[in-house]
Amino acid sequence: MSSFPQRIFSGVQPTGNLHLGNYLGAIKRFVALQADFPCIYCVVDMHAITIPQDPKELRRQIREVTAAFLAVGIDPVKNIVFNQSQVHEHAELAWVLNCVARIGWLNRMTQFKEKAGKDRENASVGLYVYPNLMAADILVYRATHVPVGEDQKQHLELTRDVAQKFNNDFAESIAACGFGEAFFPLTEPLIAGPATRVMSLRDGSKKMSKSDASDYSRINLTDDADTIAQKFRKAKTDPEPLPGEAAGLEGRPEAENLVAIYAALVDGTVEDVLRDHGGAQFSAFKGALVDVAVSKLGPIAGEMRRLMADPGHIDAVLADGSRRASAIAHETMNAVKDIVGFVRS
Ligand code: AMP
Ligand code: TRP
Repeated sequence: MSSFPQRIFSGVQPTGNLHLGNYLGAIKRFVALQADFPCIYCVVDMHAITIPQDPKELRRQIREVTAAFLAVGIDPVKNIVFNQSQVHEHAELAWVLNCVARIGWLNRMTQFKEKAGKDRENASVGLYVYPNLMAADILVYRATHVPVGEDQKQHLELTRDVAQKFNNDFAESIAACGFGEAFFPLTEPLIAGPATRVMSLRDGSKKMSKSDASDYSRINLTDDADTIAQKFRKAKTDPEPLPGEAAGLEGRPEAENLVAIYAALVDGTVEDVLRDHGGAQFSAFKGALVDVAVSKLGPIAGEMRRLMADPGHIDAVLADGSRRASAIAHETMNAVKDIVGFVRS
């Protein structure tokens, strides 16, 4: 297998409120990676329309996710920050990958099954081929690593399968075009840390999600200090005090979730948190949790508000990022056209 220069890509959908799961599972980790690698962070608006969106609200949310990227400290000059629909090569490559991926592979995608629900016949075709668009997002930059939460693992496996099949199906042409043994890298997911799957505050068996009907199930990145305090105070727990060791969290999903959230917020481990708080009652631990959450999230919410007051600046960041992303994507797409056998001028 040829070696590919390391490059990070990740995407976040501009649908609903960004929450603590998005932050700890993904966006916070984007920031850490920018010190060591070239990174491309994308607001995936084309993924958003696989379910119906209000156009006005979509526009606002594209800007809000961008504001969140900037507010957490992603540098849009050193890295590329842009929205998907401004780089048409994502859709173009997705079409080619639609012709590489097999229907059987898509039929196994659990996210489609969850989102389509019982009325599968009535789901959009876009929702069904969503994973191929996600593979195109990543492969159009030939990205080697993708930081995501646990729920995206299966989509990353599909991305590898699609890349591998393209490399195999077109092996001869890839070599003839001068790309050696493989054109696409087999991208690695980066799923790590204590909070790869943050759970609902109301039900420790359900993931924290933008689409949960109850706002008490999640902490939104834009929540103020009082709301954060109230939501954590109302979070479901069990009657036992916190254990002294991680093994004691087994079978206690709500306790495990709150400890993992605390650990991720302070960049520590679950063991560290239990060393300091083992034996504490939830009333006391929740107080400590509110303090760290407010001290970490408060400044982000403030900065997001400041940025959202100047949408012109956000749009300029996206325009600049899109121009730079297009340059890379265009080069990949030309190579793909040559490999596949399209005629181009
Ligand atoms: P989405 O909001 O579906 O576009 O997700 C954006 C990123 O946040 C993806 O990397 C997801 O894996 C991650 N993510 C979403 N929900 C959670 C959660 N409850 N816990 C951890 N990561 C999550
Ligand atoms: N499917 C991802 C989610 O729902 C969002 C996404 C789209 C993505 N394209 C991507 C994530 C490419 C990582 C890389 O969270």
